Amino acid sequence: MDNHWTRRRFLKTAGITASAAMLGPSLFDASEALAATPLVRRDIGGLGINDPILVSYRKAVKAMQALPASDPRSWTYQAAIHGTTLSPPKTAWNTCAHGTIFFWSWHRMYLYWFEHIVRSMAGDPNWALPFWNWSSPSERQLPAAFRDTTSVLYTVNRDPAMNDGSGSLPATDVSFSAAFAFTSFASANSSIQGTPHGDVHVDVGGWMGSVPTAGQDPIFYLHHCNIDRLWNLWLAQGGGRTDPLSDAAWKNTKFTFFDETGKQVQMTGCDVLRAAQQLNYKYEGEPAQVAPFCLQVFKPPILYREIELIRWPGPPVELGPARVSFPLDIKALRQRLMSLAQSKTDTVLLAFDEVVSERPPGVVWEVYVGLPANAAPDPKSPFYVGNLSLFGAGIRSEAHHEFQPARFRFAIDGALLAAFRSKEESVAVTLVPHGILVNGKPTQRKVDSPVRIGAVSLAAQSESRQ
Ligand code: C2O
Repeated sequence: MDNHWTRRRFLKTAGITASAAMLGPSLFDASEALAATPLVRRDIGGLGINDPILVSYRKAVKAMQALPASDPRSWTYQAAIHGTTLSPPKTAWNTCAHGTIFFWSWHRMYLYWFEHIVRSMAGDPNWALPFWNWSSPSERQLPAAFRDTTSVLYTVNRDPAMNDGSGSLPATDVSFSAAFAFTSFASANSSIQGTPHGDVHVDVGGWMGSVPTAGQDPIFYLHHCNIDRLWNLWLAQGGGRTDPLSDAAWKNTKFTFFDETGKQVQMTGCDVLRAAQQLNYKYEGEPAQVAPFCLQVFKPPILYREIELIRWPGPPVELGPARVSFPLDIKALRQRLMSLAQSKTDTVLLAFDEVVSERPPGVVWEVYVGLPANAAPDPKSPFYVGNLSLFGAGIRSEAHHEFQPARFRFAIDGALLAAFRSKEESVAVTLVPHGILVNGKPTQRKVDSPVRIGAVSLAAQSESRQ
């Protein structure tokens, strides 16, 4: 018999609140089938600074900040679930899942319970989180309500230019096209964690720039709402994109949170597959949500294998304030790379492994493959393959359990094909640091801590049906 069902029946008989009983597949739950239409998480771009949604959010943040840190519904406790430097750690502290397959799902659960607490603290039972839609070119500044210095939504712990409205997010940092091009869940989940997710954290800076403090900034939850929305949009693209329903750990690992009464609750991947149906929310303007079920796997999953082709023999690559470029010798592999890059089921990846920094670097790097030596780096050129930024994984000062270096994968088929038009025997890998835009113009930021890339390689990602 299905475990979830047993547990849910038990919870119900034990008379636990409706929200706690919502755990588990909603398939069997009549009360949920009868539930009202899902709440809508709105785009903050369409909300005035005194929209009731923001009034309620301010009220709740104030009330949560007034609670003692020992209360699971307090602002301090909720932020600490994501990450904190406070010790000794309490239940569920420091549990955010970066650099893992749980990135999208853990943050969905986290927002879900946070939203319940805000709803109850604001006394606004239909409240839903708005999302910071930096995907829209008109929303690249920090939303105005968060720049109002008299508001609880403001903190001085951000980049000053983001806070005064002169700063905005560069287009490359909010682009999800690299992540969306991946059909493998693991690859998309990992790619999106870097760009746009990590880049926006770094760009907002201050508390947002570091895992142990990020949850203290009220904008955190709106940023993550947009990342959560992108999960739905990634699935809606189809083309073989699915949740990892053949991964038992992804489906069944239990994570701990607290509900609006301060009671401990647990959730698994299977509980958060269908936002509208299981969690009662959808996003303003999104297409129909794809509705995967843990109990029904109809098709054999597509398998993705990664095979290393060339490893760069040089010393670790050190990233500092200056642009860095080094050649990858490809002459022996030219034909193979060419056919992989042209294939529909294979992708050539640029792989960075063992990526490490002592502290948050505070900077985002653009990554290019095949950029000609005399050419200016241009993210609109075919040589641009994505960004590198660190947030959580790879940063030694932020390791709360065991330190884990970061890894990055960039799909480089297009860049390689462009580079192969010249007959060179090597292709350059180039990394260029950048800061946010200020008054619409690119800026440089100080590199707070250099980054070391321990291993660089080219790999082939191949897909096959089981
Ligand atoms: Cu757990 Cu945006 O971070």
